[in-house]
Amino acid sequence: MEGFTVWFTGLPSSGKSTLAGLLSDALRRRGLAVELLDGDEVRTVLTRGLGFSREDRDENIRRIAWVAKVLTRNGVVAITAAISPYRAARDHARQAIGRFVEVYVACPVEVCIQRDVKGLYARALRGEIEQFTGVSDPYEEPLQPEVVVRTDVESPEEGLQRIVGHLERGGFLAPGMTNVRVPTYLVEQLRRVWGDGAFEARLGEALAAQAAAVEEPLHEAEREEVLARLRSLGYVD
Ligand SMILES: Nc1ncnc2c1ncn2[C@@H]1O[C@H](COP(=O)(O)OP(=O)(O)OP(=O)(O)O)[C@@H](O)[C@H]1O
Ligand SMILES: [Mg+2]
Repeated sequence: MEGFTVWFTGLPSSGKSTLAGLLSDALRRRGLAVELLDGDEVRTVLTRGLGFSREDRDENIRRIAWVAKVLTRNGVVAITAAISPYRAARDHARQAIGRFVEVYVACPVEVCIQRDVKGLYARALRGEIEQFTGVSDPYEEPLQPEVVVRTDVESPEEGLQRIVGHLERGGFLAPGMTNVRVPTYLVEQLRRVWGDGAFEARLGEALAAQAAAVEEPLHEAEREEVLARLRSLGYVD
């Protein structure tokens, strides 16, 4: 399976880490291999020592993009959550990675200042931090992001659902089987065709297979087995 990269970008406290964490959990539950590259953690290892000049920020993003590229070409879903304020650096990452979904985590700076998760806006506004994005350093909004999430008006769950929806429509993810509502008339018809006992057994098998997929990532052979079983039951083509 080919991987892909979901690249979150937005102001400090806009909600990148929150949404990236929710997305990682959701994709892991679907059995995908996911690696989350959060700006805060990356800056303590991979890009330790870099500062916040344009040059250093670009270097930070170049390195994150390189890791995301390597993960993506090895079948992993790479999720990045860094401010990545410069459009050119993000576009560079897009070109290098190829299978790339840019999510603009949009939130008015006034709301971000109220949230101020790390207390950095307050310090920047007091003049204690130079080159703080949104206060004393630029943020270049994406011009054509695949998804825009407005975190001042949408809940984290709503944002997550729209991102997942986009990934499904774009063919990055198979349509989810969780929370599928089967209309009553269909249940009635299937009961008539299969008979009561067979209906329960078939549904039970499908749900068990799904539960197994949710519990832990499947290895390729197991995945094939589950798919074959679902195919034989007529749940997938
Ligand atoms: N719809 C929403 N989506 C995401 N976060 C939200 C939303 N509504 C409120 N929040 C809150 O906003 C805050 C966002 O903080 P978060 O650490 O995710 O931001 P960030 O963009 O990663 O910031 P930083 O660049 O400083 O790491 C959290 O406290 C979160 O609970
Ligand atoms: Mg963060």
